[in-house]
Amino acid sequence: MTDGRSVLTRTSFRLPFLLLGGLALLAGLDAALALLGLPHVLVGARLADVHGPLMVLGFVGTVIGLERSVALGRGWGYLSPGLNGLGVVATVSVLPDEVGAGLVLAGQLGGLLVYRSLYARQPAAAVAVQVLGQLMAVAAAALWLGGVPVPGIMPWLVGYLVLTIFGERLELARLGALSPRDATVAQGVAVTVLVAAVVSLLAPEAGFTLLGLALAAAALWLAVKDVARRTVRSTGLPRFIAVCLLAGYVWLAVAGAVWALGGQVEGRAYDAAAHALFLGFAISMVMAHAPVIMPAVLRRPLPYRRAFVVPAALLHTSLAFRLAVGDARDLDWAVQAGGVGNIVAVLLFVAVAAWSALTARRTTTAPPAPSSSTVRAEEFGSRREGEGAEEFGSRREGEGAEESGSRREGGGPGEAPPTRHHDTVITSHGVPS
Ligand code: HEM
Repeated sequence: MTDGRSVLTRTSFRLPFLLLGGLALLAGLDAALALLGLPHVLVGARLADVHGPLMVLGFVGTVIGLERSVALGRGWGYLSPGLNGLGVVATVSVLPDEVGAGLVLAGQLGGLLVYRSLYARQPAAAVAVQVLGQLMAVAAAALWLGGVPVPGIMPWLVGYLVLTIFGERLELARLGALSPRDATVAQGVAVTVLVAAVVSLLAPEAGFTLLGLALAAAALWLAVKDVARRTVRSTGLPRFIAVCLLAGYVWLAVAGAVWALGGQVEGRAYDAAAHALFLGFAISMVMAHAPVIMPAVLRRPLPYRRAFVVPAALLHTSLAFRLAVGDARDLDWAVQAGGVGNIVAVLLFVAVAAWSALTARRTTTAPPAPSSSTVRAEEFGSRREGEGAEEFGSRREGEGAEESGSRREGGGPGEAPPTRHHDTVITSHGVPS
């Protein structure tokens, strides 16, 4: 039996959106080669000009939009990643710049509508922080369409990714021992990021300084309050996630420090702050969450393998080299070497994920739905040092992942749709209430 909802849950329906995000990633990486002054595939200075928007709004924006649409479970929600993805295609085509930017703006506006519904479903502070992040994405896309140069919209691009991720981590931390005061502080930090971006339009030096301070505060909050500090002592996937998260928070603090101390930095410091944030923080978050989110989005298992550690380690070491040797000492060759290492790390992660998904064991009989505590073990790790993680790890090998994916998504065909946001893939990341 095929109804509208079951079409939405099909891998074949969702995969094209992910592929559009992949196209943005590849084009953005090609543009990165051009910016590094290295041989690249696509020609034209235009591609280099759009590396930033392609990466942030095109790649991450399309993937986040897809994830939100899956959580919402309504057909119209997919207009957001769809329009955003079409914007990517237009941006890398010969069409005028405004077409791509206009489509991306439409996609981000669609994302705001998706959030409106998600917030109505769960009016929690953590979702409100993500709504602020989405507002910043809309502003970034509008400014880009209006012809504002990328360095001028940097605070909006930064705010979009930081608040989206911060909101998700806040949601998770809330399930631990988070006091109302902690939540208030987190919301204050989020609002400060937004205010800093507004100020940056009028008084750039003050705006970037404030942005840096807000990012440093966010890093501190996350490092202290996030469950990662506890789960890092676990094993397997929970430990991998925790290490990626904690390393990301360190890079977030680095970016914050550069902007707080340097204001609207240029040249090497600009490269350093931008990539501490976008690669060290944001891509590390993507790596951390991919083994949890992808099974839910694509309804295919993506078992955790030790090989995931290799691209993650390469990302952080090559980035440290790029910043500490290349940017700090103004050495072209070191920025290039570090940059190539960054690109290889990202591509290697995609390759490992694809290999893991393609070689995962599939089952014909679904195992019983994991209990709340079992799914929760995915990120929280073992309740008894390693044991829970192993238990979940063995489930994830081919079968648990798929099962947990459909569970988090709020139901496969025939199951009741999610009634609460917690039941979705969005903010729970494996933590049903
Ligand atoms: C994977 C390897 C990457 C490399 C090698 C790379 C390389 C570069 C280079 C060389 C620049 C120019 C810096 C300057 O003007 O001093 C740049 C700018 C930028 N990058 Fe990346 N990048 C990478 C990944 C990313 C990612 C993943 C994101 C976002 C998610 C991103 C976002 C940006 C932004 C927003 C700018 C500013 C663009 C502008 O001012 O026009 N980059 N990148």
